[in-house]
Amino acid sequence: MKTKSLLVIKPDAVKDKKIGRIIQTLEENRFEIKGIRMKRFTKEEAEEFYSPHKGKHFFEKLVNFIISGEVVGILVEKENAIEKLRELIGDTDPEKARCGTIRYMFGKSITENAVHAADSEESFNREVTFFF
Ligand code: CMP
Repeated sequence: MKTKSLLVIKPDAVKDKKIGRIIQTLEENRFEIKGIRMKRFTKEEAEEFYSPHKGKHFFEKLVNFIISGEVVGILVEKENAIEKLRELIGDTDPEKARCGTIRYMFGKSITENAVHAADSEESFNREVTFFF
């Protein structure tokens, strides 16, 4: 059964003009694009979006980074979309990401790692409301 997932292109990749190449990578991997929205998170929204990481040493840095510019939310559909999209984005740390993954291609560091993707159905249901 086809399911949906959410990819967020982060401010580093937007500033580096990688939106087009990231969408191309999604389409080449047979994700259907169901919605696209660009926005800038407020600090409050960013803290809510990343609330599962509250209390971690990198939380403040993460929030400050995600509000530093525009982000692009992309709603995608595919068989097993959540798992398949996590595979396609690669390891959180671009240095460890497999060749061919989005973070391998466009990520620069563990903070500036180009994209975020929902990691479970619960996360997807929560995160999608920030964009659609
Ligand atoms: P993301 O998929 O957006 O989900 C949470 C983010 O926290 C993650 O990508 C990284 O950008 C960031 N992150 C995770 N671990 C660390 C870490 N050890 N140091 C700094 N940032 C981190």
